[in-house]
Amino acid sequence: MRLEDELRELRARFDAALERAADPKHLDEVRVSFLGRSGEVTTVRRGIGKLPGDERPSAGKTINDVVASMEAALGEREGALQRARFETSLSESIDVTFPAPPSPLGSLHPIRIVTNDLCGYFERHGFAVVLGPEIEPDYYNFDALNIPADHPAREGFDSFYLTEHLLLRPHTSPMQIRTMEDYPPPVAVVVPGKCYRRDAVDARHSYMFHQIEGLLVAKDVHFGHLKGTLTGMCRKLFGPDQAVRFRPSYFPFTEPSAEVDTTCPRCRGAGGPCRMCSGSGWIELGGSGMVHPNVLQQMEYDPDIYSGWAFGFGIERLALVRYDIDDIRRLFENQPEFLAQFS
Ligand code: DAH
Repeated sequence: MRLEDELRELRARFDAALERAADPKHLDEVRVSFLGRSGEVTTVRRGIGKLPGDERPSAGKTINDVVASMEAALGEREGALQRARFETSLSESIDVTFPAPPSPLGSLHPIRIVTNDLCGYFERHGFAVVLGPEIEPDYYNFDALNIPADHPAREGFDSFYLTEHLLLRPHTSPMQIRTMEDYPPPVAVVVPGKCYRRDAVDARHSYMFHQIEGLLVAKDVHFGHLKGTLTGMCRKLFGPDQAVRFRPSYFPFTEPSAEVDTTCPRCRGAGGPCRMCSGSGWIELGGSGMVHPNVLQQMEYDPDIYSGWAFGFGIERLALVRYDIDDIRRLFENQPEFLAQFS
């Protein structure tokens, strides 16, 4: 038989054997019987010696080519068997139709929930919700709010300055100015957002906190509107029997000015041993007042025609009181187990 025919016939038997080999052990048997030291290819190779001298090199090359392609075929079969074994083992150990456990869902942060509720309340009363920059020039933070450079009230806002005249806003009141700068009267806005002060961190203080600012300027606006609006706000947040109390105070940008308190939601105003309100029966929300005529005038709102009120409350304070949380730091630690309670 010619060498080529012999090899073709051998290759056909090899392919058939390969096809039948269903596991690594059989595959190895096929390898040994065809390609092993005393395998069939070796027998064929020995025949080269009987060929005429000038045919030997090309016969050797033909055999080597066939061996290389047989080895490649063996490798492929081995890979295919491995993949098949892997897939069988997967379907034996994993039920791919079994429903996956649900991924844990995030929840709204208590600050976000309170902010949303506040904004919702004011939107229903015709206010627009606007946001402002957290970095402000001192003009918006102080000067335009009737707090000139030498005014002692500036020291009450212990601020982070970035440059001589640029700072992280210590309150949301600068947005009163931006609003009046951008829009003619009447205006009605609330501004929730982050504020920054150089406060040491403890159970009640944080160098970053949130405020909500409110501003209403129109014709014939008086203090009674402020009281009614804030009473409604507290009832929305804490319940229907909530009362609001105003204590005379001072802010350069309002006249008259008042601190705002609401009934302590824990003791319902009873006071006594209540720790949340230190026995007073009231919780302080922040500052408020009638917009100072100087501020209106500077914004080219005629104070003889227009009047307005404003307030600025701490949102953390509202969240701590609403959810009976005893330490402001809990709001910033990002513990999912803690935060998940509020959604
Ligand atoms: N901006 C003041 C603060 O952070 C709070 C405040 C007081 C805001 C009176 C007002 C206001 O709008 O009318 O201390």
